[in-house]
Amino acid sequence: MPSLPHSFQQQRPTLVTGFKRADAPSAALVELYNARAILAAPVTAYGKRLGVLLVYAPRAPVFASSDLELIQLLGDHVAMTLENRLLVDEAAQVRAREEATRLKEDFLSSAAHDLKTPLTGIVTQAQIMRRRAQRDPSAPPDPAGLERLLEQSQRLKSLVLELLDVSRLEHGSLIGERQQVELAALVRSVIQREAALWKRVKLRADSSVVAELDAPRFEQALINLVENALKYSQPPLPVIVEVWCDDGEARLSVRDEGIGIPAHDQPLVFERFHRARNVDDRRFAGMGLGLYIARGIIEQHGGRIWVESTPGVGSTFFVALPVLDAVAEPADTASEQVIQ
Ligand SMILES: Nc1ncnc2c1ncn2[C@@H]1O[C@H](COP(=O)(O)OP(=O)(O)O)[C@@H](O)[C@H]1O
Ligand SMILES: [Mg+2]
Repeated sequence: MPSLPHSFQQQRPTLVTGFKRADAPSAALVELYNARAILAAPVTAYGKRLGVLLVYAPRAPVFASSDLELIQLLGDHVAMTLENRLLVDEAAQVRAREEATRLKEDFLSSAAHDLKTPLTGIVTQAQIMRRRAQRDPSAPPDPAGLERLLEQSQRLKSLVLELLDVSRLEHGSLIGERQQVELAALVRSVIQREAALWKRVKLRADSSVVAELDAPRFEQALINLVENALKYSQPPLPVIVEVWCDDGEARLSVRDEGIGIPAHDQPLVFERFHRARNVDDRRFAGMGLGLYIARGIIEQHGGRIWVESTPGVGSTFFVALPVLDAVAEPADTASEQVIQ
């Protein structure tokens, strides 16, 4: 009497009607399903042994040897279906691997391209200063040259920091510990800290909204939005930051009257390295990572970020965050604060 593994080992359909206690796989089936007769067929596709198809019955006479052909047909059918699925899975894996490699290559070439510009500036400036010092060792220091060197070095540093943040973001480790933060107070303190460069930035905060934030990371997202608004609009046009509470969410917006974003690019500007078609690389420096990082920060806080924009008129970036507690501002304080 053949046992159940027989079908797999011999690669032949099998009919089993009597079970031995010692036959462990059969005994388990008998116990579990009250099986008294089992038809088994190997499931094998292109020489790859995938398994065994079993059909069992509680009574022995249900199956006859003539059913062996039928069960083998079913077994072959199952094998084909499984094999097709394996092929599809393998193809999907190959595609995913190719896509990952392509993304990595794109990422490396975009990053290298963007790092090259300030790096070239630094090397050139350093060479000029060295030549100057070699020609006349007693020449006074060149403050303008040093300033350019420092400026390009800072630029390189901030690009490298952005790249590191992208890597942290993609490992899900960008957001640290969160605390209850009063949103308007946080925005106000950033505006005050950046006052020298953010002269055009005004704050309107009409309610006191508390959210649970990793404050330094949230500040980074805010800075990305405000720096864009300043970069893509001309002085003296204002940049307005607003904080309010709506629909049980904390809301923040950053509005400018700058170049705007073409409709086609609006959903794409939050993607890695995407820069809108109306942005000239030589006029507006940037790598296209700021909004990607900002979106990551906001989303990892359970929030959303989106943009409304009209080319030539301006852009407003909106942030919505789950609110912890909304406290209405006391009636005797101004409902609108403007900080210049
Ligand atoms: N306030 C804005 N006004 C117009 N375009 C903007 C604004 N903010 C972002 N953009 C567009 O979105 C793109 C992506 O922004 P970002 O990720 O911050 O990268 P970067 O500023 O380095 O180009 C920008 O290149 C620009 O095309
Ligand atoms: Mg930017």
